[in-house]
Amino acid sequence: MSRYQVALLCLGLLLMLLLYLGLPGPPEQTSWLWRGPSVTVLAGLTRGNSPIFYREVLPLHQTHRVEVVLLHGKAFNSHMWEQLGTLQLLSKRGYRAVAIDLPGFGNSAPSKEASTEAGRAELLELVLQNLEVQNAVLVSPSLSGRYALPFLMRSHHQLHGFVPIAPTSTQNYTQEQFWAVKTPTLILYGELDHILARESLRQLRHLPNHSVVKLHNAGHACYLHKPQDFHLALLAFLDHLS
Ligand SMILES: *[C@@H]1O[C@H](CO)[C@@H](O)[C@H](O)[C@H]1NC(C)=O
Ligand SMILES: *[C@@H]1O[C@H](CO)[C@@H](O)[C@H](O)[C@H]1NC(C)=O
Repeated sequence: MSRYQVALLCLGLLLMLLLYLGLPGPPEQTSWLWRGPSVTVLAGLTRGNSPIFYREVLPLHQTHRVEVVLLHGKAFNSHMWEQLGTLQLLSKRGYRAVAIDLPGFGNSAPSKEASTEAGRAELLELVLQNLEVQNAVLVSPSLSGRYALPFLMRSHHQLHGFVPIAPTSTQNYTQEQFWAVKTPTLILYGELDHILARESLRQLRHLPNHSVVKLHNAGHACYLHKPQDFHLALLAFLDHLS
């Protein structure tokens, strides 16, 4: 081979290497970190590359094709749904259940994406994509309304059901916007929650297909105060949906 040919070959190889490096990597994926007796902790990447953490239980015997995605309030993270037994109960009843650590809570780092309304809706959208959720029922207490409400307004067609529990951010949307959302909704709240529950109920009432369950003698975190009543109401709604 002449020097010219060698140079050409080297150039060709260099070009191939550059092309290879420039190709997009594998799609963002969910990988599991550890597997407990029933609950698996997973991490999925968001667009900003900050991992979001989930706690997932698979159905013991798959009897429903509905997946329950649980968000959390300001004082909590995904672990709460494990401590309360909600994840395990849903699995026993044949549902796949996933609890999420919102950015800045539990194992999930704070994320710049979460600073805008559109960013928060997109983040939830990516989470559902990561998890390959088809028929999601979104459970949204308190502060998580910051994520759930923008998502509901933009992507309600992706939701099989919605369970708001005195969520924040309902004031940000008009009556007409609520009317347009046909998603079956269970509005849950504690009898003793005089502020957020009432404020959100006034708005959520405009959702055309909703039912309301008030948990007696329970405050803002009504699922903690009356877990049995909460689980009964949630299961009745889910069983009716599927
Ligand atoms: C409410 O709406 C305003 C204006 O659209 C927006 O800037 C703000 O982030 C929204 N708040 C929440 C909590 O979504
Ligand atoms: C309302 O939701 C329920 C499920 O909770 C469903 O069975 C029913 O068909 C829905 N009604 C309308 C009018 O969409």
